[in-house]
Amino acid sequence: MAKVYITRPIADEALASIRGAAQVALWPNPDLPPPREVILEQVRGVDGVLCLLTDTIDAQVIDAGPSLRVISNLAVGYDNIDVAAATARGILVCNTPGVLTETTADLAWSLIMAAARRIPEAERYLRAGSWKSWSPQLMLGQDVHGATLGVVGLGRIGQAVARRASGFGMRILYADLAPKPEAEALGASFAELPQLLRESDIVSIHTPLTDRTHHLIGAKELALMKPSAVLINTARGAIVDGKALADALRGGCIFAAGLDVLESEPPEPDDPLLHLDNCVVLPHIGSASVATRTRMATMAAENVLAALEGRRPPHLVNPEAFSP
Ligand code: GLV
Repeated sequence: MAKVYITRPIADEALASIRGAAQVALWPNPDLPPPREVILEQVRGVDGVLCLLTDTIDAQVIDAGPSLRVISNLAVGYDNIDVAAATARGILVCNTPGVLTETTADLAWSLIMAAARRIPEAERYLRAGSWKSWSPQLMLGQDVHGATLGVVGLGRIGQAVARRASGFGMRILYADLAPKPEAEALGASFAELPQLLRESDIVSIHTPLTDRTHHLIGAKELALMKPSAVLINTARGAIVDGKALADALRGGCIFAAGLDVLESEPPEPDDPLLHLDNCVVLPHIGSASVATRTRMATMAAENVLAALEGRRPPHLVNPEAFSP
């Protein structure tokens, strides 16, 4: 019987489907990832790994599992996996695209509203007992309706975020590697990144993390943004230089930020972004709805099962590694 290592408890039905076809070793802690030594130990002798974005699956881990055939990530992003190393060894890498698009776009919009209208800050103020009276200058934020939305990366999630903007009567700009045909239906206009940063009131990031997008938004890019602008990141923390962002927020270079992702997850307690009132920070919950996380687990399980049966997994990142 094939063997699969699963690095965190996942939805019961997904777990049961893998257990029906393979012998499963499961890291039991729902809140913490297995330490690296445990992953290195567990991959030895397994055919498949179902892992999370919190697990670093690099060449050393891959080499520790000589019988590995599939690495199935419970996430759409897969920057935690050395795909080139897996491909070179004929190992399939899979992800969970599509099912989390709308849920993540909803969360991006929650952050847009929260950061632009200072919702968490206002709530903290009230709960602290600081509210004395309705006041004409109290907690003034930025209007979202009628503003310009700049989408950095018009992929599935970027498009879903842009689609929601039409209800707010927004102008939409997008930056990407090249103009995209999907943009027309969204009423989105292509812009180079500097132009998008200069003209947008809300900038929302939706690119994968790659060597090319690491610190795509740093001090130079933040300096191009309007002092009234809001930066939203629901993609990967390292796309934004966190230190430069903290400086920009502290110095009034931009108005606010809404972040679901950080360079270090969880952040160090002294991370300046945690201590700025104009920064809304969430613990990477973009896809965290009951329905979506269940669908992601099912999809990750389907990917593993297909690979173990020699079928092409439905969501294969490296098709060049598959031979029927
Ligand atoms: C979450 O960040 C994902 O990539 O699915």
